[in-house]
Amino acid sequence: MSHGVKRPATARKSENLNGTVRIPGDKSISHRSFMFGGLASGQTRITGLLEGEDVINTGRAMQAMGARVRKDGDTWIIDGVGNGALLAPEAPLDFGNAGTGCRLTMGLVGVYDFDSTFIGDASLTSRPMGRVLNPLREMGVQVKAAEGDRLPVTLRGPKTANPITYRVPMASAQVKSAVLLAGLNTPGITTVIEPVMTRDHTEKMLQGFGANLTVETDADGVRTIRLEGRGTLTGQTIDVPGDPSSTAFPLVAALLVPGSDVTILNVLMNPTRTGLILTLQEMGAHIDVLNTRLAGGEDVADLRVRSSELKGVTVPEDRAPSMIDEYPVLAVAAAFADGVTIMNGLEELRVKESDRLAAVASGLKLNGVDCDEGESSLLVRGRPGGKELGNPAGAAVTTFLDHRIAMSFLVMGLASEHPVTVDDATMIATSFPEFMDLMAGLGAQIDGNGPA
Ligand code: S3P
Repeated sequence: MSHGVKRPATARKSENLNGTVRIPGDKSISHRSFMFGGLASGQTRITGLLEGEDVINTGRAMQAMGARVRKDGDTWIIDGVGNGALLAPEAPLDFGNAGTGCRLTMGLVGVYDFDSTFIGDASLTSRPMGRVLNPLREMGVQVKAAEGDRLPVTLRGPKTANPITYRVPMASAQVKSAVLLAGLNTPGITTVIEPVMTRDHTEKMLQGFGANLTVETDADGVRTIRLEGRGTLTGQTIDVPGDPSSTAFPLVAALLVPGSDVTILNVLMNPTRTGLILTLQEMGAHIDVLNTRLAGGEDVADLRVRSSELKGVTVPEDRAPSMIDEYPVLAVAAAFADGVTIMNGLEELRVKESDRLAAVASGLKLNGVDCDEGESSLLVRGRPGGKELGNPAGAAVTTFLDHRIAMSFLVMGLASEHPVTVDDATMIATSFPEFMDLMAGLGAQIDGNGPA
């Protein structure tokens, strides 16, 4: 594991980035592939799985609850326990840095009539779990948690869980998913009302595994998701498409570094995930969406990205759920745009792997960017060409155990006049272990200069 020793890294102004790359598998789909494969009856075969630390922790948790998980060549093979038949984990389930792994598994196993305990790293331990624990309490789950509903958490389900109708109070796919997964081992219909649509991988994949799940969307876009509990799930074959959130880093780098021309293959283009591409196109980015196709029920495409002169925009607030993980790197793109970029509706950024709003604003300021951090907004005044951006003294951005803060600021340094240093690049392994090699292959100058 990467926790403990910090490893700083520095990115320097680079010559044009060029080449064709394939991005590792989508993190959201990879977590769910392990979970649903581990739960379903029979065998699930997964190719393209993201082998980042976060996902591997989910695989270990499923193993600890009875699933058999192995790898044969490029294929992960899971023999599931069958819906309703998870075993009590003998030790605490350690999710490391992963909110998705932890929160979804709380739903998956929390309603079982045995104890399950959840732990994680310092980042995950500081994140709010009440958003998942509250609906579980309504379903009859007993909860022991540290102050403020934080980890460590121990759950014990009732003899028979109570199906609920739950209106998700914040735009969160993790909360929606946790309730639905709890519904899998609950008799009757569990209903989730989602006023603002978030990524829909849980719904689509559960349907693919054979769950009786329906989605109704009303005229205002409010979604009602109904799941019949205690049905049979059957193992599937899954080819995980490339992660659009990881794609964002080489993509923005190619836009910012003059003379770049980069093609990124096999990117998931599910509309609940493509807000960044739309926003960058509105800023004037040359992004060609090529070879659009359907793969395993998901839209997939190749992206050709050429360096572009960006202009500042106001990002529509209702787009936030479809680009929630991409604001840090969008803020970096905005630092190089002509004019002002305004981002609103960012309250959820405060409870990610770090307080991303504060982390981004302080990293930008450290590197010469004029920006204003509001309660739930960020305004960035750009400097085309990156003149005077970066930190000539080598002062490091604090990454707060947050992989996306580390990658965003390393992208910034590729186009800034002065280098950009981050205090710790180790967390990149949670979601994008290939990041350094992939970026180097395109011509990016990034050195890890800390202890190995
Ligand atoms: C995820 C949902 C989002 C996102 C996270 C992955 C998921 O979290 O930020 O990286 O796979 O369901 P929230 O539900 O907290 O918005």
